[in-house]
Amino acid sequence: MNRAQSQILIIFGASGDLTKRKLLPALFELYKEKLLPDKFAVLGASRSDLSDDDFRNRADEFLPEHALLSEFKKNLFYQQVNTDNAEDFVPLKKRLNELSTSLQIKKNYIFYLSTPPSLYSLIPRFLNENGLSESHKYFRRLIVEKPFGTSLETARNLNVELLHYFSEEQIYRIDHYLGKETVQNMLVTRFANGIFEPLWNRRYIERVEITSAENLGVEGRGGYYDHTGALRDMIQNHLLQVTGFVAMEPPVVIEADAIRNEILKVFQSLRPIRENEVFLHVIRGQYTTSKINGQTVPGYREEKGVDYLSRTETFVALKFFIDNWRWAGVPFLVRTGKKLPTRVTEIVITFKKVPHHLFGTSGEQGHNQLIIRIQPDEGILLKFGMKTPGAGFKVQSVNMDFHYSDLAADKVPAAYERLLHDCMTGDATLYARGDAVEKAWEFVQPIINAWQSNPDIPIYGYPAGTWGPEEAERLIINGNWRYPCKNLTNDGLYCEL
Ligand code: BG6
Repeated sequence: MNRAQSQILIIFGASGDLTKRKLLPALFELYKEKLLPDKFAVLGASRSDLSDDDFRNRADEFLPEHALLSEFKKNLFYQQVNTDNAEDFVPLKKRLNELSTSLQIKKNYIFYLSTPPSLYSLIPRFLNENGLSESHKYFRRLIVEKPFGTSLETARNLNVELLHYFSEEQIYRIDHYLGKETVQNMLVTRFANGIFEPLWNRRYIERVEITSAENLGVEGRGGYYDHTGALRDMIQNHLLQVTGFVAMEPPVVIEADAIRNEILKVFQSLRPIRENEVFLHVIRGQYTTSKINGQTVPGYREEKGVDYLSRTETFVALKFFIDNWRWAGVPFLVRTGKKLPTRVTEIVITFKKVPHHLFGTSGEQGHNQLIIRIQPDEGILLKFGMKTPGAGFKVQSVNMDFHYSDLAADKVPAAYERLLHDCMTGDATLYARGDAVEKAWEFVQPIINAWQSNPDIPIYGYPAGTWGPEEAERLIINGNWRYPCKNLTNDGLYCEL
């Protein structure tokens, strides 16, 4: 990876959870790997009244002990900013000038919006009014955290607002799924190997499944989640972006716009699910109380911050089609849920069966499946038929299994490491472009509308710790969803049965 130019990263929402759990740990990793610029500073900004030292001391609470930690912390600074107050941006600018002079850092700035979304257009406005968005001599970039809008309309409005103050090239919309190594590896698997791409189309593929299962529940985020639900939280952004990588045509070059153009084309080809078809193509569910390993697990409606009559979905499964030459007629099945038996995100490519059954139809000679495990235990698994040793020709399904962990000593970098570093070097390939985000919203909006306007569309209860409502099975005509782990694992470990 390249080393970035000298710059200052300004984190709005610096006393929040994301800064603690993801941003500072990712920056520290980059520092340890010498991927941060020689001259670099982080300026934390939020309402809390903290000094530079307070901010550095807080970092001790969540960064691992390491010989380089105290050296790294010298790059951390803090400025109190009431982000909804225009006047606070004057001292912020002054502080940035001072830091760049005293530390001899160029006035290249990345502004990271890790605040409540209600501030996503206000902060860019105040930055712009103070001349902080002008990108002539120096670069000025803006990272926008999720959620990018809560509906098609709000996402469109947000794009319009942001583009008043920053250009599209300056805006980096984060989708941390694109920072995951195995999502990027999808491009390599498909386009660096001669064996997969010729099969990667409607002629050989029967269906594509994308599953993102979590064994955790809403974990104290009930207030946010109850207004969001699984469709907005996971499908509109993360899983549609993953679909883009699975389904796109080969880009002309590996460059931001070449790749993002291809993703947009996939979204433009999504066959709309009309409001009156939602009943048929989308199954939603909500976890209910259950007993796991003898312990009572509360249902979603008993979670803190959740309405006791809530109809927010914690599970969603949907079937859709991509109406283009490559994918005509191939169902894409996408599902996600909280409080499922395990944590796993995987893409399952099910190939068509052989045209003639030479060895009879009994036994396991079913479909070949290519399973791309995004997390945990990143890797690729190919399932295919082999002869069972002994008399006759009995076929059994066997696995060819590659684990990323088998690769040298290279660790798989966390998504935020990759994404932060990319933004620092000006590479927007793994960030969502405005037009694609809007297209993704266009696709999910009729589903939201149908749920809102038609209370007869059921929301199925499923006991916490199970694979979601059984009704999801009816989305697949010829087969079943893959259940990678049939037994309950509460440790979040992946198990291949
Ligand atoms: C976030 C969602 O964007 O992604 C969470 O808001 C979800 O609800 C999380 O748990 C899943 O991310 P990961 O990387 O753990 O799969």
